Amino acid sequence: MTNIEQNIFNIINERHSIREFDGNYKIHKDEIEEMIQIAATAPSSSNLQPWRFLIIQDENVKKELQGIAYNQAPIGSCSAVISVIGDTKMYKNVEKIYHSNFEAGHIDEVNTQRLIDSVMHSYPSFASEARANIASFDAGLISMQFMLIAKAKGYDTVTIGGFNKQEFAERFELEDRYMPIVLIALGKAAAPAFKTTRLPVEEIVDFI
Ligand SMILES: Cc1cc2nc3c(=O)[nH]c(=O)nc-3n(C[C@H](O)[C@H](O)[C@H](O)COP(=O)(O)O)c2cc1C
Repeated sequence: MTNIEQNIFNIINERHSIREFDGNYKIHKDEIEEMIQIAATAPSSSNLQPWRFLIIQDENVKKELQGIAYNQAPIGSCSAVISVIGDTKMYKNVEKIYHSNFEAGHIDEVNTQRLIDSVMHSYPSFASEARANIASFDAGLISMQFMLIAKAKGYDTVTIGGFNKQEFAERFELEDRYMPIVLIALGKAAAPAFKTTRLPVEEIVDFI
């Protein structure tokens, strides 16, 4: 096994959901931005990157958010809450994204326009549920990357799906196109995780 493989496997194996963080530990916003930037290398449907992040560090706002998350403890003690938000109108960024690809020299002009047309002929007419599924799936990919990057940098996380999404959307005045997906509590662990097991591979895999 190469060193790179070893490091990646260690990080994956060492990530566990932490439910008690060191409440005094602060993480600078620049470092969180850097982690998000690396996480944003995640793949997404048509590269439309339907993810947005509202990062909450203010202690009073965190308290409020803890109420919205049914008083779950990690929200109170973590250094920051990364609210992962899906953009259900992701196609609205198609020109910006594909022109940037063109300007970077990754694609020629004809193909740029072809891909923009293809997105605009499909995504806007998809059922809104289909677009919400795409946004949720893609947000899951970047969330996983973020959690592993955080672990690699010596931090811990827990994903919180148990929160009142409607209340969240109202409190933070999300426009209709944006849907709250999960909250990721980020910080320094103050207590070990509960270890968990996984279904055996034979139960989750079939080969044909
Ligand atoms: C989408 C999602 C939602 C979750 N929501 C919560 C939650 O609301 N509260 C919580 O304590 N843990 C939550 N978890 C953490 C899981 O319980 C945890 O990932 C699982 O038990 C496996 O443990 P591990 O992360 O330590 O490997 C959530 C995880 C995921 C992926």
